[in-house]
Amino acid sequence: MTKHIPVLLDSVMRALGDIAGKTIVDATFGAGGYSRAFLNAGARVIAFDRDPTVATDAKKMCAEFDGRFEFIPRPFSHISDLDGTYDAIVFDLGISSMQIDVPTRGFSFRGNGPLDMRMSGAGVSATELIENTSVDELAQILRDYGDVKKAHILARVIKNAQPKTTFELRDLIHNPHDIAPVFQALRIAVNDEMGELTRALNAVPNLLNCGGKCICVTFHSIEDRIVKNTFREWTTPAGDPRMPTIVSAPFEPIKTVTPPATEIEQNPRARSAHMRGVTKL
Ligand SMILES: C[S@@+](CC[C@H](N)C(=O)[O-])C[C@H]1O[C@@H](n2cnc3c(N)ncnc32)[C@H](O)[C@@H]1O
Repeated sequence: MTKHIPVLLDSVMRALGDIAGKTIVDATFGAGGYSRAFLNAGARVIAFDRDPTVATDAKKMCAEFDGRFEFIPRPFSHISDLDGTYDAIVFDLGISSMQIDVPTRGFSFRGNGPLDMRMSGAGVSATELIENTSVDELAQILRDYGDVKKAHILARVIKNAQPKTTFELRDLIHNPHDIAPVFQALRIAVNDEMGELTRALNAVPNLLNCGGKCICVTFHSIEDRIVKNTFREWTTPAGDPRMPTIVSAPFEPIKTVTPPATEIEQNPRARSAHMRGVTKL
């Protein structure tokens, strides 16, 4: 299995500044690359991940950084249940290399496995989603979350065939350019990724200390748009008629960063990444 290489970690660390003694929420533990960097820089970390397979690594990290690391095995929308306020909340969105590389998880069209795609292993799988949605709903998912052209025709083909494996789904898609977008769209729907992100971002303003930062690393235009628009609202001065503000506290933008060519060369997963951030004033 490929080891997950953290994307834009140097930029995230630069954006966070000196975090020694600070408390950071790592909303997406994954392989623990970000959490480890925060801990090594002297921070306390509370990490979330909805994937039960990362719990073993998280447990090891608890033992290694006794008292400074806590793991919460839940979806990150549950940050709203946290008490207190924090110095930073960091989201490294999407899926990890471990998830995509294990064919039995059903995330990838490059290996054959059950069409599952559930990060948490619970709830409705991609196969069940296809069974339970109408052609119109499926077409909407393909359009909204994959920008798939001729989504209705493809949705009908998929619905009629009821694929049970990743290769069965892949082989139904005749235009090779549509394969990755269709898989992405189903994954986003199965995991309610945009709902999770929206609910979590809504909770952020009240969870940050003054001077606290929210940093998001995004991997596709749909989640990036949500983060960009949310941060734009937060950083627009109250009373600006062009934008109804949704929070009382003003925020300042942190410069958006994309990976340098050298990082993309070493880690092709980084190629579509954007790091966006805001500081609470
Ligand atoms: C890109 S990886 C994070 C990698 C991590 N930053 C590292 O350096 O190893 C994304 C992780 O976020 C988790 N994840 C995605 N959406 C989530 C959600 N709504 N709630 C909790 N965890 C989520 C996935 O299970 C995956 O493990």
